[in-house]
Amino acid sequence: MRVFRALGVDRLIVSNAAGGLNRNFRVGDLMIITDVINLMFDNPLRGPNDSSCGPRFPDMSRPFSPRLMALAEEVARRKGIALSWGTYAAVTGPCYETPAELRFMSRIGIDAVGMSTVPETIVARQVGVSEVLGISFITNVATGEVGPKVSHDEVLKAAAEGGPRFVDLVQGVVRQM
Ligand code: HPA
Repeated sequence: MRVFRALGVDRLIVSNAAGGLNRNFRVGDLMIITDVINLMFDNPLRGPNDSSCGPRFPDMSRPFSPRLMALAEEVARRKGIALSWGTYAAVTGPCYETPAELRFMSRIGIDAVGMSTVPETIVARQVGVSEVLGISFITNVATGEVGPKVSHDEVLKAAAEGGPRFVDLVQGVVRQM
């Protein structure tokens, strides 16, 4: 992100594969990330701060751009792509979550969980990237009920199947952003 910023990047689209905690979500859904919860128990800004990169205590009150979210909604409507909205949480992984962890996440308002995106978004905001859009692709159901196991192959397969729809949405947004 710091290199991107040094190169002049001012708008960013971040994406991820995520497990869907929200019971309305289905495998293959695309979710606009409205907000995030950092459950990585670490932060990319820890350690000495180089103030030429950004402030020591950056604001995170509006991590994602309302303008880009509205644009994504408009593009999706025009292309007939269904969109969900929700809060994304990042964990370090690499194991998937236990049922108790998923129930906990559900109670604190998390709709989708994955292993990325939050650190990039934090650094993007710190270095002054002015607009960030985040999109999760729901690759597996993660409701916390003891049920089918989650496998990395299932995640890869769902992501591959949904790829063209995701690309279509992102291309539409990029053309108009
Ligand atoms: N949990 C965490 N990360 C993920 C998942 C999940 O269920 N699916 C894809 N990335």
